[in-house]
Amino acid sequence: MGRITLDKVRKAFGDVQVIPPLDLTIEDGEFVVFVGPSGCGKSTLLRLIAGLEDVSGGQIRIDGQDATRVPPAKRRLAMVFQSYALYPHMSVRKNIAFPLRMAGLDKAEQDKRVNAAADVLNLTDYLDRRPGQLSGGQRQRVAIGRAIVREPAAFLFDEPLSNLDAALRVGMRLEISELHKRLKTTMVYVTHDQVEAMTMADKIVVLRAGHIEQVGSPLELYRAPRNLFVAGFIGSPKMNLIGGALAAQHDATTIGIRPEHIAVSTDAGDWHGTVGVSEHLGSDTFFHVTCEGIAEPVTVRVGGEVALHYGDSVWLTPDKSQIHRFDTEGLRIA
Ligand SMILES: Nc1ncnc2c1ncn2[C@@H]1O[C@H](COP(=O)(O)OP(=O)(O)OP(=O)(O)O)[C@@H](O)[C@H]1O
Ligand SMILES: [Mg+2]
Repeated sequence: MGRITLDKVRKAFGDVQVIPPLDLTIEDGEFVVFVGPSGCGKSTLLRLIAGLEDVSGGQIRIDGQDATRVPPAKRRLAMVFQSYALYPHMSVRKNIAFPLRMAGLDKAEQDKRVNAAADVLNLTDYLDRRPGQLSGGQRQRVAIGRAIVREPAAFLFDEPLSNLDAALRVGMRLEISELHKRLKTTMVYVTHDQVEAMTMADKIVVLRAGHIEQVGSPLELYRAPRNLFVAGFIGSPKMNLIGGALAAQHDATTIGIRPEHIAVSTDAGDWHGTVGVSEHLGSDTFFHVTCEGIAEPVTVRVGGEVALHYGDSVWLTPDKSQIHRFDTEGLRIA
């Protein structure tokens, strides 16, 4: 079991309120991602759940039981950090077994759990090595192994992949998703990378200045962002946000259209513009087009390669059914 409920939880450091009163329910078995810009309070919120910080108010319940004042070690939660915090002088086996040794489990049970975790994480061949003899990805797996053996009610991850290079991050992202499918244990995962959030989460919690901007599945957030902040944060490349007369034609203060929902033509269309910088990814091309009557360049995403060059004259046509409308407060207009 691993249902976590935050009830009006708040946190201040001295006079500075970092988390205003916040309500959130994380269901048993869910993969929940906290995402938001640097300093928005993601780590603080995770540390409050873990018990590594005391709340300034409100209640935290784990499986219905009040855990607000329960010490971290008794919350049955396992935390995995960006810095792996492995013991350099101990073998992988001893590192993974460490929390079990501390808890005084007998040797046979320790071995059983370490071997099972090593099997799940493909670390069986590395159990006798020291952390210094492993790659970054392998070290992160050891840190995850140390969390798995505790058989926690939930895993708490704080940017566990930030130290890894881009290719390894993608690989580890898949491994953690796979692990969640197999273990079916609640996972709460902090990242500032919206691609990680979109690809891993059952439920995304978008935070800004300690405040929840929106909670929903990745596709809910993609399809119906509640406000301009979420609209700009979820999706890569970013949604185009356009104000002025064009938005007024749609009865809005700002309209949003994603790069993948705009068609390009050299003959005809709704908006006339000039091609600026292009980004060629092979699978896709992103064009940045300066359009007449639109302040910011419009980003357009086209599948594959398209023969358009810097300075070419083009027409853009947004898919009308994919236009998002926002009011003066930046809130979505239904
Ligand atoms: N111990 C502390 N004392 C005072 N202020 C703190 C403390 N810990 C965090 N803060 C402040 O609380 C805010 C939230 O910090 P937090 O570490 O939760 O952000 P974050 O979203 O995890 O950011 P990042 O993406 O950079 O890791 C920041 O403004 C930070 O300066
Ligand atoms: Mg952080």
